[in-house]
Amino acid sequence: MKFTRRQLIRKSAHFAGIGLASNIIPFPLYAENLNYGPKEGLARLHWNENYYGPSERAIEAIKTSSFKGAYYPDHLVDYLKSMIADYNGLDNANIAISAGSTQALTILSQVKARQGTILSTGLTYDVHLSLAKNSGARVIRVNDNEDMTIDLQSIESLSRKNVSVVFIVNPNNPSGMIINSELLRESVKRMSENALVVVDEAYNEVTSEPETNSMVDLVRDGYNVAISRTFSKIYGLAGQRVGYMIGQPDVINEIRFNGTGEASLSMAGVSAAIASYEDKDFMNFSRDKINQAKEIVEIGLKSNGLSYLPSETNFILVNLGSIDADKFRDEMLKENILIRGKYGDYHNWSRVSMGNLSDVQRYVDAIPKALTNLSV
Ligand SMILES: Cc1ncc(COP(=O)(O)O)c(C=O)c1O
Repeated sequence: MKFTRRQLIRKSAHFAGIGLASNIIPFPLYAENLNYGPKEGLARLHWNENYYGPSERAIEAIKTSSFKGAYYPDHLVDYLKSMIADYNGLDNANIAISAGSTQALTILSQVKARQGTILSTGLTYDVHLSLAKNSGARVIRVNDNEDMTIDLQSIESLSRKNVSVVFIVNPNNPSGMIINSELLRESVKRMSENALVVVDEAYNEVTSEPETNSMVDLVRDGYNVAISRTFSKIYGLAGQRVGYMIGQPDVINEIRFNGTGEASLSMAGVSAAIASYEDKDFMNFSRDKINQAKEIVEIGLKSNGLSYLPSETNFILVNLGSIDADKFRDEMLKENILIRGKYGDYHNWSRVSMGNLSDVQRYVDAIPKALTNLSV
């Protein structure tokens, strides 16, 4: 199937309509023809995917399950819930599966918006927050500290004032930084006396100590806390759209009965998630590759005189000094390297995701020319 350029632009405009314009990448960059992956030669370092996924087990499950694609996957959804529940010492009633974690986060935001104010942090993953705001929700974003860490103290004090839900991403995106787990645990416990606290742990499995860093024990202990997780990151299944929320049964029911969560899932996606969930070999392999890529990028940044934030994720937020992050992104694009541009008021910070090792090496090699072209 071949589209004309005009048809492609018309198709891209459909996505731009979502209103997240800075996230939109022109369609022709992916592929001119029908193609399942990025265009040949394009280093895709902008969306924190795992280049090494899906795992072999997941691919096998996708292939095999496709033959039964005539059927709704409801029994598989229950199977996946049981796996997640067993692993975390919980019941199926504590788990909601959704089409990517964004769907469960969005449904929950919409429900909670009717019950009070939504409270969250400054620079963070905010698709669900923006959508809630667009539908009339009161959303308060607490500015981050000067060092770009989350201002937990201010969030905590505001959480006592007619707030229905607090959203915290840990480790955070795009900073990549993690909050000390004991500090966060105590704060979340206190906040959960007044509001539901959702901790988005999309990158938990990438961190050096996933178990210690997770707040899932608070759900087990009965706190009004929910944990958001996804198969899009370390599992390398972003294209299969599977995520989940762990929480108290009343919160899980709010998600299940206020959106199309479980009816939005595909046979292939759920099967791949089941095959991947406990595949420790693949997760360790991916974590190793991410760490190797981080080392290459960190050495490259330092040798070009650039600083960056300490990352516990599969991306790094780079301080470009006085250089505009959009212009830096455009320079990289000239070299067929896709990275993120500026974030809100942070004009000089640029996020790069860890792709395969040769792609991140290309990013590092392209830095000197980009800096030279942009220096005044
Ligand atoms: C912190 C965080 N949460 C959630 C998501 C959404 O992921 P998905 O909807 O693919 O599960 C992302 C994606 O980048 C993210 O960075």
